[in-house]
Amino acid sequence: MTLNISEDILKVSWIEEGMIMEKIVIEGGHELSGTITIGGAKNSAVALIPAALLADGICTIKNVPNITDRDALFDIVKLLNCTIEQDGSIIKIDSRNLENKLISEKLSVKLRASYYFMGVLLGKYKHVEIYFPGGCNIGTRPIDLHLKGFKAMGAKVTKRGHKYTLNADELHGAEINLDFASVGATINIMFAAVLAKGRTIINNAAKEVEIINIIDFLNKMGAKISGAGTDTLIIDGVTKLHGAEIEVIPDRIEAGTYILIGSLLGNNLKVEGIIPEHNTALFEKLEEMGVDFKIEGNSVILNKCEHLNPVNVTTLVYPGFPTDLGQPMSVVLTQADGACTIRETIWENRIGHYPYLQKMGAKIELEGNKATIMGKAHLKGTDINATDLRGGAALILAGLIAEGTTNIFDIDYILRGYENIIHKLTNVGAKIKLEEI
Ligand code: UD1
Repeated sequence: MTLNISEDILKVSWIEEGMIMEKIVIEGGHELSGTITIGGAKNSAVALIPAALLADGICTIKNVPNITDRDALFDIVKLLNCTIEQDGSIIKIDSRNLENKLISEKLSVKLRASYYFMGVLLGKYKHVEIYFPGGCNIGTRPIDLHLKGFKAMGAKVTKRGHKYTLNADELHGAEINLDFASVGATINIMFAAVLAKGRTIINNAAKEVEIINIIDFLNKMGAKISGAGTDTLIIDGVTKLHGAEIEVIPDRIEAGTYILIGSLLGNNLKVEGIIPEHNTALFEKLEEMGVDFKIEGNSVILNKCEHLNPVNVTTLVYPGFPTDLGQPMSVVLTQADGACTIRETIWENRIGHYPYLQKMGAKIELEGNKATIMGKAHLKGTDINATDLRGGAALILAGLIAEGTTNIFDIDYILRGYENIIHKLTNVGAKIKLEEI
């Protein structure tokens, strides 16, 4: 295995020996009809799996998406001597024989969410050894806010190279003010706080719906957390947690991606199994653009339309327009009748897909974190590379609307977070396949 490591940015770019290299091949221009069913939320599942290790017992997690990030977490869970039983999307994790071990760099860099074992093992054992996590290269992605929280609770942090060692004689409650409402820091601090002594208060906590899902799980395990969905979380530490059952909420980002695809290619395309309220900001923007969509219970039906109004989009923390949908949205903006802007406010480097959209014929000007996109562009298929998960999804959308054939390379990024994406799209009429390189 070869790793590209540059300072604190560990780019997940590895080639395992014997790994089959594949590309995605798309023949563009086909309308999509039928039904796409949304799976469990990646960003919930990748925290719920480590959370199960906080229990002394067996936890059941339902609706776990079949993505490679899940498998990377399973490898860490098994290293820590826990067993996993899997029946389709239902997994059972038995943590009764958990052993606290060094989590190697090879396992840590496979995904961002490996850092959740920091909070979990620190909470349970007051000691953890782990490496800087991986994840998409969309910004510097520091973990200072996570560490600030752990330190406030009494942990001592030592960093040697990319390796972090955290120790505490005792973890105690603390009042922690996050400078930014970070999703990862909120969850990680919560993981350490549920087994700490006394009360922890997290101010300016993240309010993403996935966090509510995780709090629900922890409370079912016996934790005492209040304030879910608000920016102040109060956690009263307990001495022990027990096994519990939870269902992963539907993936609002996967749903949003298919909704955006449907807005350009739908012919009565149904995206089902969604919680519409989780995508309010997206639906509001689509309405402003004049997209033809109808919400019916837990589904939305989309039809493509000839004219789309130009709009301006700014990504924000929840409940604002999600940063994870900014890149797919930028492809929709290439099809509006006029100039649109999209401003990314969460990540400083979420721009990897733009050169490839330009190569396909999109007219985009980048100025700092703002892209001005001139519609309506006629996109043509060509060879392009996924540079990150959501940028990869954006390129799939571009390939689906382009004239001719698009070949997408570096597709591992996409498979990390979209379950059965080829199958789901083929099922509704897309001409898309995996091909060995
Ligand atoms: C999570 C999501 C990701 C989403 C992001 C924002 C997961 C696995 N990933 O990522 O899909 O794009 O939320 O909705 O759930 N920051 C710091 N210091 C820290 C932590 C974060 O400066 O210690 C900054 C980051 O650099 C970034 C911003 O805060 O600019 C948001 O990061 P955060 O909310 O923590 O994102 P993740 O949890 O990594």
